[in-house]
Amino acid sequence: MEKIKIEGNHTLTGTIKISGAKNSAVALVPASLLAEDTVTIDNIPNISDIKALNEILEYLGAKVKREEETMVIDPSTVKNIAIPEDHAKKLRASYYFMGALLGKYKKAEMYFPGGCSIGARPIDLHLKGFEALGATITTEGDKYIIEADELIGTNIYLDFASVGATINIMLAATKATGTTIIENAAKEPEIVNVATFLNQMGAKITGAGTSEIKIIGVKKLHGCFTEVIPDRIEAGTYIIAGALVGDNLRIDNIIPDHIEALLLKLKEMKANMKVEKDHIIISKTDKLKKVNVQTQVFPGFPTDLQQPLTTLLTQCTGTSIMEENIYENRFQNVPYLTEMGANIKIDEKMLIINGPTKLVGKEVEATDLRAGACLVLAGLLAEGETKITNIKYILRGYENIIQKLTNVGAHISLIDE
Ligand code: EPZ
Repeated sequence: MEKIKIEGNHTLTGTIKISGAKNSAVALVPASLLAEDTVTIDNIPNISDIKALNEILEYLGAKVKREEETMVIDPSTVKNIAIPEDHAKKLRASYYFMGALLGKYKKAEMYFPGGCSIGARPIDLHLKGFEALGATITTEGDKYIIEADELIGTNIYLDFASVGATINIMLAATKATGTTIIENAAKEPEIVNVATFLNQMGAKITGAGTSEIKIIGVKKLHGCFTEVIPDRIEAGTYIIAGALVGDNLRIDNIIPDHIEALLLKLKEMKANMKVEKDHIIISKTDKLKKVNVQTQVFPGFPTDLQQPLTTLLTQCTGTSIMEENIYENRFQNVPYLTEMGANIKIDEKMLIINGPTKLVGKEVEATDLRAGACLVLAGLLAEGETKITNIKYILRGYENIIQKLTNVGAHISLIDE
């Protein structure tokens, strides 16, 4: 079985370059179907989620060419056919094919998506948006058939500022007749990345990044060139590594505004860091101050950094509180952290974390992507050897994580045993 092995307590110094954002790229790739001809997407991370999406694109008949960080997609040969369950179940983001296929062909057939087991993760808001645009949805078990004679622009209010639903409704509305307004839209930077891409294809979308997005339907969308924004969650993960075991660790290719909530918390903790226009330099800090954190939708503290930051909170002096407000099951990393020596109590949606505690290397399991990231961070700090199993979760979201950390001094490797 493949595992990640880490010999802890080695100082990280040097530079880590941040890759393209997973949660943008996994929307941009399906969105490319909306164009009538070839699109080029630059700065695409080389992760298994992208490979899974490419397989779906090719299954649908699109031509996909990957050259290093660039992907060239020719959607002109696509035949709109049902996406099989095994493809859909590989990742949560497969659901973006619903909005893209509905938007282009007025019909989409696929299964309930996969994704990390951090909660129920329904897609009711996506489906309500499609129905509001005039689509009818029939379900056969986990299979969804979504079709419309015509998609007509309308006002859609999201009960929750869902990232996926905001993007999916944008995809479906781009070629609808008339204007669609999405109210209480998600404001994450990935939404802006997708809206920019669609506008480069000839769409007419304004307001992305605010809670009200307007989409004026257009007839056709053409090919274009776009690029993926830097991954704010990958950046946050390595910044936390620097706060744990860094010595002037430089994290390159970041957009500080995208991780402001994390930077403000690190400042509150008195972390030793220097924030520049497109990079950060951060070092291990003794005597980190305790903090209270609540995950919220953007621009609040991101839920995807809740588990990575929990590792750092185990090193703060005093009692820190971490409150998870987005998902109902995103503490599966905690038992493994406590096995390694952390002092954490789970109280409903809150973690009560007493520190600082000494962490000792153990064999642990990655239960989901960001839980895996949390355990890599704990392994980098812990005394002795940490082995992490179920590493497919980690490799789906962090491009070249072994190489990037090895390059800055971590003793980390892939082993098979
Ligand atoms: C995206 O998931 C990200 N995934 C998640 O990152 C991220 O945690 C999440 O946004 C929030 O920022 C991708 O972009 C592929 P949501 P998404 O719709 O779109 C509930 C990672 O680690 N909800 O904003 O699925 C849902 O159950 C992953 O990279 C409904 O109730 O997130 C959850 O509690 C994990 N009905 C909350 O909203 C719906 O129709 C947030 O979901 C949709 C969502």
